[in-house]
Amino acid sequence: MTEMTCIEDLRRLARKRVPRMFYDYVDGGSWTESTYRANEADFQQLHFRQRVACDISQRSTATTMVGQAVSMPVAIAPTGLTGMQHADGEILAARAAKNAGIPFTLSTMSVCSIEAVAQATQRHPFWFQLYVTRDRSFVERLIERARDANCSALVVTMDLQVFGQRHKDKKNGLSLPPKPTLRNLVNLATKPRWCLNMLRTSNRQFGNIVGHATGVDSIKSLTQWTQEQFDPRLSWQDVAWIKKRWGGPLIVKGILDPDDARLAVETGADAIIVSNHGGRQLDGAPSSISALPAIVDAVGKQTEIHFDGGVRSGQDVLKAIALGARGTYIGRAMMYGLGAQGERGVSTALEIIRNELDLSMAFCGRTDVRQVDRGILLPRQ
Ligand code: FNR
Repeated sequence: MTEMTCIEDLRRLARKRVPRMFYDYVDGGSWTESTYRANEADFQQLHFRQRVACDISQRSTATTMVGQAVSMPVAIAPTGLTGMQHADGEILAARAAKNAGIPFTLSTMSVCSIEAVAQATQRHPFWFQLYVTRDRSFVERLIERARDANCSALVVTMDLQVFGQRHKDKKNGLSLPPKPTLRNLVNLATKPRWCLNMLRTSNRQFGNIVGHATGVDSIKSLTQWTQEQFDPRLSWQDVAWIKKRWGGPLIVKGILDPDDARLAVETGADAIIVSNHGGRQLDGAPSSISALPAIVDAVGKQTEIHFDGGVRSGQDVLKAIALGARGTYIGRAMMYGLGAQGERGVSTALEIIRNELDLSMAFCGRTDVRQVDRGILLPRQ
């Protein structure tokens, strides 16, 4: 098989191997997908200052995120249905992250449960992403379960209290398990590897929810459940309440505006993630990379700024770090690796990004990712 040398290679292979509805769930954004496209495209507007004849023989990409050592400023973003890209997807991605020395974030909407991931990774700490539901006792239980599983940071997602429509998911009739329509059966017949792996696992449902929240056993009822349960009254008081209950590092995800960034800081966020949910929610919102500088200017001295959206290479990571992010997250880049080659594919994605980051930093004449600043970028024309 041809060698996987960039994230685009992994994407192409994932498209071949993952059933259509689950591939489309990943590779798409809301409505016209303009924000989804801008997330990637706007990185191209930034240009590096190449420098030469600096001693670049000793280099390090190691840093910290919320006080925890990371081998590079990249974490795995929380993504729902990861266990449908590949059987046991969350477990495989968590293992790849552990081996790479970076954080793995488990979504509330994962297929493998908090407990299953903890067990499969020998209780190596991972991060847990929380959605706030109307049923606060369910939120409390999730926080307890994350604590019991040795999670070392909690990520509260703020930008999914209502849903951005994704046309493809609607048209594909995204469901779990896939409905046995002729179209789905024909498509599944072309993915024998995926089917075989899926038959071998018992992780085929929403592990954090089924059996923990009543009346949820398929994505149809789950969509209904989320629409009924995700609380549109979510407020900063809720975040303060979660922080108190959790007691550990709290990361607030889904910030695009400096005013919200200030409120997050006032509420005690240990870090915020500048994110538009990978262009899956408010279409027409700015790309993440274009929103980053104003937020760094507003609160960069008071809190740690994390970043996601459109990261497909180590160059993208470096640009976000240059603009003031302490760390970045990858959603789709991880999902493509997973869909293409399981755990090995996620490890490959991380290795590709690490090499690109390291070499690009060297081309800019820098040797330590912690020292990277706006000076490595050309002023914008
Ligand atoms: C997501 N994202 C997400 N975020 C979250 O907080 N909880 C979730 O369950 C999900 N689910 C999810 C599914 C899929 C398929 C994608 C692509 C994304 C958003 C995710 O955490 C992150 O913000 C984006 O993925 C970042 O953009 P890139 O890296 O995918 O371009």
